[in-house]
Formats: sequence, C-alpha cells, structure tokens
Amino acid sequence: MKKSILRTKVIQILKKHKLSKKHSEICADYLIKAELVGAKSHGLTRLRMYCQRIQKKLINPKPRIKIKKINSSISHIDADNSIGFVSADIAISQAIKNAKKTGIGLVGVKRSGHFGLSSFYAEQAVKKNLIVFCFTNAPPALAPHGAKKSLFGTNPICFGVPTGKVPFILDTSTSIINRGKIRRAHKLGEKIPYGVALDKSGKITTDPKRALEGTQLPIATFKGSGLAWMVDILSGVLTGGSHGGKTKDPFDDFSGPQNVGHLFLTINPKIFIGKKFLKEMKENIRLVKKLPKAKGFNSILYPGERKNNLYKKNSKKDISIPQKILNEMNDLNVV
Ligand SMILES: NC(=O)c1ccc[n+]([C@@H]2O[C@H](COP(=O)([O-])OP(=O)(O)OC[C@H]3O[C@@H](n4cnc5c(N)ncnc54)[C@H](O)[C@@H]3O)[C@@H](O)[C@H]2O)c1
Repeated sequence: MKKSILRTKVIQILKKHKLSKKHSEICADYLIKAELVGAKSHGLTRLRMYCQRIQKKLINPKPRIKIKKINSSISHIDADNSIGFVSADIAISQAIKNAKKTGIGLVGVKRSGHFGLSSFYAEQAVKKNLIVFCFTNAPPALAPHGAKKSLFGTNPICFGVPTGKVPFILDTSTSIINRGKIRRAHKLGEKIPYGVALDKSGKITTDPKRALEGTQLPIATFKGSGLAWMVDILSGVLTGGSHGGKTKDPFDDFSGPQNVGHLFLTINPKIFIGKKFLKEMKENIRLVKKLPKAKGFNSILYPGERKNNLYKKNSKKDISIPQKILNEMNDLNVV
C-alpha cells in the first residue's frame, strides 16, 4: 500500500477511536516508521491492540498530560494514561529543550503506555546534536536470573549519539528477541527462532504461543537479567511508573491502564571537549571500521546503520501488509 494512503487510513482509524487529529498523526507516523525500518513487530500489527485499549478506556484518548518542572534540567511528566507515542514525543521534546538550556536534560514519565521503538525518540535528540539515552519498562516477559517465572519486561536500552553522518543508535531489548516478534509470529502462524524462549515447563520452544505462555531468554544470561532490572528501576521505580512485574501486558491484561514508565536523558556532547567531540567521534568510528573483517563480513556496521539503510530502501517502495492485518484495519475503520 502507498505510504500516503496508509497514513490517511491509520489516522482515520485513530480519529474514529477519539484521538485528536494531532495525536493520530503522531501515532500514524511512528507506526509507519516502524514498518519502514523493518521493525514490523512494532508497526501495524499493534494498531488493533491500541484501539482495543482505547475502547476499553485503558488508554485515554484525550489525556491531560502534565509537565512538572523540577529545575531547568529536570522535568517529570504525568501522562494521564495517554497512548505511549504521544507522551514519549512530548517527553523527548522537553528533554531536548532542557539539555539545550543547561547541557543536561532528564525527563521521567509515569502513567504512560507502550511507546513503540525507543529509537524514534533517540533520533529526535540526535538530530538536535545531543547524546541521548531512552529507557522504558514493559510487561513481564523475562524470568530474573534464578527465577522460574517472568517478571521483567524486554526492557529496551537505547543510546544515541551524533556522528556527523548516520546517527549511532544502539536500541536493543534486554531479551534475545523483542516480544513483538513473538506476538507477530503468533498472529501470522509462523515459528520463532530456536533458543530465544522457553515454554511453561522450561523447555526451549519455537512455538510462539508456548513462548508467550512461558518465558523469553535474556541477552547474555545473568547480565541481560541485570540490565532488564536496571531499566525497570530507571523507568519504573524512579519515575513513579509501574515496576516489579506490575506493568500490564497491553495485549491480554485489560484489568487497568499499563502505567508504563519512561526515562529520557539528553546530554550536550560539547560539555567536556567542545567542538572536538564530533572530530573524535568520527575518528572513533573510523578506527573500528578499518579493522580487518571477520569471515563473511564486508564491512563493520555501527548500531543504527542497518536500520537507516532499510529506511532509505523501504521509503521508495509501497508497504506490504499481510492480509490478516489489513482485515484488522478494515474492521477497525467501521467502528
Ligand atoms: N516499547 C517497548 O516496550 C519495547 C520493548 C522491547 C523492545 N522495543 C523495541 O524493539 C526494537 C527492536 O529491538 P530488538 O532487540 O529486536 O533489536 P535488534 O535485535 O533489531 O537490534 C538491536 C541493536 O543491534 C543493532 N544491530 C543490528 N544488526 C546489527 C549489525 N549487523 N551490526 C551492528 N549492529 C547491529 C541495531 O542497530 C540495534 O541497535 C527496539 O527499537 C526497541 O526499542 C520496545
């Protein structure tokens, strides 16, 4: 489908679900961007879930988002159960403003929802020549190291830095694969890769349904578990959001709003070495890229390059949407 037609359709659906025109546009642009960077797990496959949560009054389509100034660097946002895209969009703009004033911006968000890819927000800060960290917690998916039961989310860690060229954006779940990939495989009747999830009895499974009932495996065993825990503390405990396994699963827990927490940290890269930063950054990348290549590699990519290439390539083409997801969109448009 042509991007412009798809955008109009998604906006129409969200407006039918009582989101304002501006908020519908923000959400549509992020959902379509996920498709274009090849993160289909965070694209249109989630539209029905967001709409269901609005219908069930668990996402507030007309939130009164409050921004509390703590000082010139720090702000605290109460998202009033807004859809995550909107509150995160406001939060990153505030973090950018704060860092432009003082060198550092720190914005915590509570009572938010699933916000898609962390890189959406990191890119905005990097475009304004800032270093950025974005954190969010997510519903239980990983068992803490030594536990039998899931509690941490796939809690992504995102770090961005300007390079003068394609931004360096490391954006990774703390699970081996993100949960959206398992959800989408389940919806489309596909298998998941071997070795990324266990079923309820603790056996490795490639069946997405069993994986969703069981636990996902963290990156690098106890180290990934520790990183997921760190993200839960920064996004949840620190901000006043949910934590300790209390973030509700947006797909199948309708017992209340998600109360996701996010944290955005923005840093002016010139604070220590002034204009030399960009020069040193370029040199840093050059030193890595010029290394002899391992077998099977023509080049060494830095985080963010692959998605940037995909975005450029996919932006020239129509977006292919599986029939099952098109049917969901058609159903949503007649609500
Ligand atoms: N909102 C939420 O609750 C939530 C939860 C989990 C994940 N997510 C999002 O899901 C997205 C995908 O997460 P993921 O774990 O599947 O990421 P991924 O495995 O696709 O990529 C992880 C990182 O590795 C880098 N990378 C990939 N291939 C590379 C290569 N060949 N060379 C060098 N670097 C490479 C990518 O640029 C990225 O920074 C992220 O954007 C994340 O923010 C969101």
